[in-house]
Amino acid sequence: MAQQQLQAEMQAGQQPLPLHVAIIMDGNGRWAKARKLPRYMGHRAGVKAVRRIVEACRQRGIQALTLFAFSSENWRRPKVEVGLLMDLFVRTLKKEVSRLDRNNVRIQFIGDRTAFNPKLHAMMDAAEQQTTNNDGLTLVIAANYGGRWDLVEATRRLAARAVAGELSVDEIDSEMLGRELCNANLPEPDLFIRTGGEQRISNYLLWQLAYTELYFTDLLWPEFDAAAFDEALNSFASRQRRFGKTGDQVEQSRRA
Ligand code: IPE
Ligand code: IPE
Ligand code: MG
Repeated sequence: MAQQQLQAEMQAGQQPLPLHVAIIMDGNGRWAKARKLPRYMGHRAGVKAVRRIVEACRQRGIQALTLFAFSSENWRRPKVEVGLLMDLFVRTLKKEVSRLDRNNVRIQFIGDRTAFNPKLHAMMDAAEQQTTNNDGLTLVIAANYGGRWDLVEATRRLAARAVAGELSVDEIDSEMLGRELCNANLPEPDLFIRTGGEQRISNYLLWQLAYTELYFTDLLWPEFDAAAFDEALNSFASRQRRFGKTGDQVEQSRRA
């Protein structure tokens, strides 16, 4: 599906645009440290960057944006930082959900939300419900998400169905497993962006990133703005996605 849209855009002479962008928003702590501020201030500045990039996605007509807000490994951080991140999460939801709703943004969360306190958990459910009929940008927030967790949960569900006799083991294929994973309602990410200079996946969407174009920038997340986002989009547009084929084959089907 993503491939078809890219082809249509290229034939129309437009720059191919990713349908779905997935971002690891990294570098908040270092941004704050460089300014002799507490790390928490970096996270607050990070929320502003989220606003900018959500707006940029809406303006450019991107269908889906998945943001890594808190990984299943981030619980290993000092208790104080985790607590402050949770407070910021709650405050940001209170402040932003109505505006996002008015802007026709559909909010979804991926990750194990049972680990959050009941108030936050309820706010996440409510934000999803409130925006469920919006058909503009789909904004997915990965919170207490881990790619391995995602795969284990999906495997468990399929195994349970097999044990219950609803499914034979031979029927399990990659489409079926993919349908059990988070974000199964969205096209797989076309473009992955990680800010903050590290070049790693950090247990993000492990399965879903199989054919995603990867883009890394040294900019710290609070510095990331619409111009920097456009640079990533330009890099994406300049790439040839081959999906296992040869470059000549891709060229031929583009011209056909
Ligand atoms: C990303 O920024 C935000 C979260 C993980 C919540 P970091 O907090 O990881 O920032 P650095 O990597 O320490 O600079
Ligand atoms: C990944 O960033 C998770 C989020 C941005 C939420 P980290 O800063 O936690 O990743 P590592 O630990 O450097 O790999
Ligand atoms: Mg980091």
